[in-house]
Amino acid sequence: MAIDSSSSIFHLLATVLCLVLILGCSEKVEAYRFEEMTAKLRHQNHVVSLSSLMPAEVCSTPAQGSKILSSQLQLAHKDGPCSSLNKEGRAKISSLHQILIDDQTRVKSIHSKISNQDPVAADEHKKKKRIAPAADSAVKLPANSGQKLGTGNFIVTIGLGKPKQDFTVVFDTGSDLTWIQCQPCVGQCYSQQDPIFNPSASSTYSNISCNSATCAQLQSATGNPQSCRTTCIYQIVYGDSSYSVGYFATETLTLSSDVFPKFEFGCGQNNQGLFGSVDGLLGLGRDPISTVSQTSQKYGKRFSYCLPSTTSSTGFLAFGSQAGASSSARYTPLLTDSNNPSFYFLTMKGIRVGGKSLSIAQSVFTTSGTIIDSGTVITRLPPAAYSALRSAFRQGMSKYPSASAYSILDTCYNLAGYNTVSVPTIVLSFGGGTNLNVDVSGILVQVSSTEYCLAFAGNSDSTDVAILGNRQQQTFEVVYNVTGGKLGFGARACT
Ligand SMILES: *[C@@H]1O[C@H](CO)[C@@H](O)[C@H](O)[C@H]1NC(C)=O
Ligand SMILES: *[C@@H]1O[C@H](CO)[C@@H](O)[C@H](O)[C@H]1NC(C)=O
Repeated sequence: MAIDSSSSIFHLLATVLCLVLILGCSEKVEAYRFEEMTAKLRHQNHVVSLSSLMPAEVCSTPAQGSKILSSQLQLAHKDGPCSSLNKEGRAKISSLHQILIDDQTRVKSIHSKISNQDPVAADEHKKKKRIAPAADSAVKLPANSGQKLGTGNFIVTIGLGKPKQDFTVVFDTGSDLTWIQCQPCVGQCYSQQDPIFNPSASSTYSNISCNSATCAQLQSATGNPQSCRTTCIYQIVYGDSSYSVGYFATETLTLSSDVFPKFEFGCGQNNQGLFGSVDGLLGLGRDPISTVSQTSQKYGKRFSYCLPSTTSSTGFLAFGSQAGASSSARYTPLLTDSNNPSFYFLTMKGIRVGGKSLSIAQSVFTTSGTIIDSGTVITRLPPAAYSALRSAFRQGMSKYPSASAYSILDTCYNLAGYNTVSVPTIVLSFGGGTNLNVDVSGILVQVSSTEYCLAFAGNSDSTDVAILGNRQQQTFEVVYNVTGGKLGFGARACT
């Protein structure tokens, strides 16, 4: 009896225990299934609250966040409340329409630089671009030659001179020469927030002679030959007819806490155009005169950045061992085109929309080629790839009322009355099996209080290079390992 009762108690206990276990187990199974299902759903759609796509009025990251490491610079959108150019700390309403016009100008100039036409035509094209001789003095307006690129829209702070002075500059992977406005502004300087750099107040400033190999290198990089007098003169004309002309010089550069003596830069004496109130530009292309090349002894040609998803938050620009250290980036080969050695080429392989692979012939991507650029806003795809993306996206968004096109964006929706929307995911596939699962801020761009558009555009010519723009890079740490020949995307590195 005693044995029986204890055994039945044991049985009861065992049953209860078992039930608990089973329940526990099945609960776990349910939870797992739920997670798997949501993951699957997430794979096909982003359920996004529209308010999350709007920038806040104030910066959400404290200025100079304490997390910033050495060899790392805080990065912000030029026009947002986190911009140091925006001392009131309030959002400036910059016209998206103008941003898209500037973007198209930049893309056009990249397309004319990287011409995939037949070699004879491309040669003619290059000859044409180089005919105009440079101005014989820095004071004069530059001849219409040399590099033409619209400027980017993310800024960082660098130090120049000894003692060091801080300057707010746009950083640009699509150009090489670093320049800042420079006293005495022999020509004309536009107004900027920081005091204009004064070489005579620095003990380490030095002009570069126009007879030097360094000057010759500059000319081959910027494509402006010059008649030699004394000081090497640079000139850059950007696609929006902004320009900077001045002395090519050496000076002490400080990036975060790292100091680089004899850094070659442009001391801008005549600068005009749509630079906003930035002090200059940090060139992060691959040419020997770029910052990447000039700091290679310390940083090994490694850098990374994370572009925030709204203008009201900040990201970072990191150099050397800091680059790629914090995220588990997935890498794709970084390729060089000997005709366009300054640009960062990738291999785009395909596109998935809402989890489904689009049927796009490989030749579409091999014909165009693809570059990644920090200064182009909207990703440009070969015409066939874009039309496939657009029709799949429209299908996925068919339950939402469409709206008319906005500038270069032709797939728009009126989302008045919606708090959340379900947006198909867009995954760009690159060589080496690396996928970029584009953040929703890189899928939809808000163009008015109620209207949102697909943040991609198509090239008009199938031979024009595809450009992975900065909108689609947002929230990823983009790691440039130039020496290692690879480029990585690390998810959720900034907001
Ligand atoms: C640099 O060159 C310019 C133009 O030749 C000259 O006016 C200026 O004094 C030079 N600066 C230094 C520090 O040599
Ligand atoms: C860059 O690539 C090289 C070669 O693959 C590798 O040895 C190095 O660790 C990489 N650096 C970073 C920061 O990823």
